[in-house]
Amino acid sequence: MSRAVLALTYILAVLGACSRESPPAPATTSSAATAPGTASAAGALDRMDTRAPVPLLPMMANHQKQNMRDHLVAVQEIVAALATDDFAGVEQAAGRIGFSEQMGQMCTHMGAGAPGFTAQALNFHHTADRISAAARDRDRAQVLTELGATLQTCTSCHAAWKQQVVDEPTWQRLTSSAPPTHDAMRQD
Ligand code: HEC
Repeated sequence: MSRAVLALTYILAVLGACSRESPPAPATTSSAATAPGTASAAGALDRMDTRAPVPLLPMMANHQKQNMRDHLVAVQEIVAALATDDFAGVEQAAGRIGFSEQMGQMCTHMGAGAPGFTAQALNFHHTADRISAAARDRDRAQVLTELGATLQTCTSCHAAWKQQVVDEPTWQRLTSSAPPTHDAMRQD
């Protein structure tokens, strides 16, 4: 009798465990994100990471990460140029992260589903413009001050936001009621 109860308990436990597993991804997929076992792991990470989500379509998320890696290259180039007092080099590298209409439009698009994100992004690009201004003045100390201020805009944004990759219907739903942010966020 007790062995039967134990056996039943075991079967129920196994069934319970199985029902909590997500179904395996189709064998045809080669994407790491949908490989068996990664969906629940991604969910666990998402619950641990309490930063606010920036909803993005997959292509936008990839584009944003490419831009980010390029921002870090720009910082690397600024530091390398400053080390040799190459102020033209500093200005050129800082120009890659400075504000432009095109940059502003992209930031507005990226932040369309995350109120507050675009403001931080535009503030970052306007702060980076001050690196260029200091380089034009050939003011080494000021370049470093403005580089420090710019890096602070990088780190504070990273502390606040995480990417949240969403599908097209979710993106439409999250952005359809978004208020226009671009003009309101202009710094100067
Ligand atoms: C307006 C917000 C914002 C600003 C400003 C910002 N970032 Fe990011 N960055 C992000 C977000 C969001 C991610 C994705 C983080 C995540 O999902 O974990 C990211 C990711 C990155 C990554 C990782 C890229 C990858 O391939 O995974 C690097 C590197 C990076 N940022 C560098 C920088 C640098 C350098 C600066 C400043 C010069 C900067 N970022 C400014 C929002 C920002």
